[in-house]
Order: sequence, then C-alpha cells, then structure tokens
Amino acid sequence: MKEKTGYPGQVKVVEVGPRDGLQNVEEIIPTESKIAYIEKLVKTGCRYIEVTSFVHPKWIPQLADSKALYSQLPREEAVHYIALVPNVKGMETAIEVGVQEIAIFTSASETFSQKNTNASVTESLHRCREVAEIAQKHKIPFRGYISTAFGCPFEGQVSPNRVVEIADELFDMGVYEVSIGDTIGIAVPSDVERLLNKTLGRFSPDRIALHMHDTRHTALANILRGLDLGITTFDASSGGLGGCPYAPGASGNLATENLVYMLNKMGITTNIDLKKLGEATRFIEKVLSRPLLSHIECGAEMTQP
Ligand code: HMG
Ligand code: MG
Repeated sequence: MKEKTGYPGQVKVVEVGPRDGLQNVEEIIPTESKIAYIEKLVKTGCRYIEVTSFVHPKWIPQLADSKALYSQLPREEAVHYIALVPNVKGMETAIEVGVQEIAIFTSASETFSQKNTNASVTESLHRCREVAEIAQKHKIPFRGYISTAFGCPFEGQVSPNRVVEIADELFDMGVYEVSIGDTIGIAVPSDVERLLNKTLGRFSPDRIALHMHDTRHTALANILRGLDLGITTFDASSGGLGGCPYAPGASGNLATENLVYMLNKMGITTNIDLKKLGEATRFIEKVLSRPLLSHIECGAEMTQP
C-alpha cells in the first residue's frame, strides 16, 4: 500500500471517556456528575462523544444509569451522542430514550467474545445484525467496533485476515465506519501497518477508525502510523480514562489531551480546545478523587505549529 504524502488538515476525534472510561472505574459515579462531565466535553468543541452503553447492568454496573443519563443529556445540535448497544434488548432501551447514534461491537477472538458478551463471535455478529436492522429501520446511524484486533488477552495473536472478515460483515450490516480496537494496548506501529495493509486493501481509510488503549504507551506512535496510512478518525478518552473489565491488563485509552496536543502541533485541526479539555479532565479527576494525567495542561500554550 502506498504511504500518503502529507497529513490531512483535519481529523475526527471520538471522545469515549464517559463510556469506555467510566465503565472501568471502581466507584459508581452519580448521573449528575457524568452529565456535568459530558457538558464540559461538549464545551471543548468535540462533536462525537460516546456517552454510555445499554448493556446489562450486572455486567457493567458503572453504566447502569444509561437510560436516565441519556434522557438528561444537554441538547446540542452539532454533537453526536453515541451509545454502545450489545443486543436487541439494549437497542429497545436505546430507542425508548431517543438514541441519536449507536455503536455495535464484536471481537476478533473467541475467548474475549465469550467473556465480554457471553457469546461466540458468530453469535455476537448475529446480535449485531439484529441491532443494525433495527437501527436502519429507525434511521439511526451506527459504527462498529472490532475488539482484540491486535491481540487477545486469552488467546494471544489474532490474524489480520480475521479482522478483515469481521469488518466485511460489519460493513455488510451497514456500519458507517469500523473502529479497530487495540483492547489491551499491545500494538506497536509495525502491527498497525500490517493490519492496515490488509484492511485498507479492501476498505477506504475514511471508513476505518483506530481505537487504541495506551497500556504500553505506544498508542500515539500507532496513531501516527495510522495517519501516515490515511486514517482520519481516532477514538480517545479524556485524561486517558478507560479499559475493559473483561480484558485483563487493559488500561485506559489514549488520552485525548495527548492526541490533540500532537495533532494541533502538526497543524491538524480537531475542533477540540485543549484548555477546555483539561477542565473536563480536572472535573472528572475531582469526581474520582484521583489524578489522571499530570502533564495535561503543560504545553497547552504551545500547540500552534
Ligand atoms: P447475557 O446474560 O448472555 O444475556 O448477557 P441474555 O440474553 O442471556 O439475558 C439474560 C438476562 O439479561 C435477561 O433478563 C435479559 O433480559 C437481560 P432476565 O430475563 O434474566 O430477567 N438482558 C439485558 N438487560 C439490560 N440490558 C441489556 C440486556 N441484554 C440482556 N442489553 C450481554 C449478554 C451482551 C447483555 C452481556 O454480556 C453484556 O451486557 N455484556 C457487555 C459487556 C460490556 O459492556 N463490555 C465492555 C464494552 S466492550 C469494550 O469495552 C471494548 C471497546 O471499547 C473496543 C475496544 O477497546 O476494543 C468497545
Ligand atoms: Mg475500548
């Protein structure tokens, strides 16, 4: 595959802190604090925010308030509030609260799929298709995640061909983009290149997103490799919150601050105000009573190329 020369002027950032971040904290955060956090994220200029999931509350008790939360979101025309939906039951609830946009999710490895959703990959894809059909009927846009795309905490290596097969199925269901997940943060740039070589041979780069967890601090390097190869959508979470309770060893997502800082300084627009993002992270740090990133605001004044 040909490397692109030059970088895009603008990229899309999907902020997943309220969902991927808060699904993995020990404490149960009051709904009003989550809403205040989302309000602050909206103020940053971010247009895509994954706010919660309509999964089983026993599986993810931290997001058991999804119905109440979604109903109370500040109405903002330009903002896409995305919710993760695992099955028809979750989709019914999502529709009850007027969900605007959803994300369906599956995995590239069997054991993780079982542990995360109590279903094989085939069963999980069947559930995704059922949800997708309802979403299409209601004209609700949806993206799709492929977890453990770079490796599984239980099975180790995952074949890039398998990821492409699953992406094919998700596109066939009508997802507008597929977000490729490094669920446990094990990828390095050469892995990204290997997987994207396969993926972009088949799908256009503007339909692929990267969702990197930063367990080994390789996420930003991986994003840069993705940018080199033409990817323009990146998931990240404010303060680097996050992880999956069913993926041992998974730490937080790439911190949105680090992503925006790098992109800004490279002259790539994200529409996100770094100072306001720092305020959102400071807020959720106070709610959690623990520090997230210590160096967030350092250099915020130096972000122009
Ligand atoms: P299950 O127990 O197999 O479900 O869970 P079931 O269909 O057998 O139903 C059992 C009971 O659950 C029934 O109730 C259902 O009604 C109820 P009962 O009749 O016994 O009273 N139920 C539900 N209740 C509320 N909401 C629902 C729902 N569905 C069934 N949606 C299920 C299957 C998929 C629901 C469960 O395994 C689950 O919720 N898993 C989600 C786990 C999760 O959220 N993991 C984290 C998100 S994925 C992630 O973080 C990775 C990502 O970030 C990308 C990356 O990093 O790679 C996206
Ligand atoms: Mg994740």
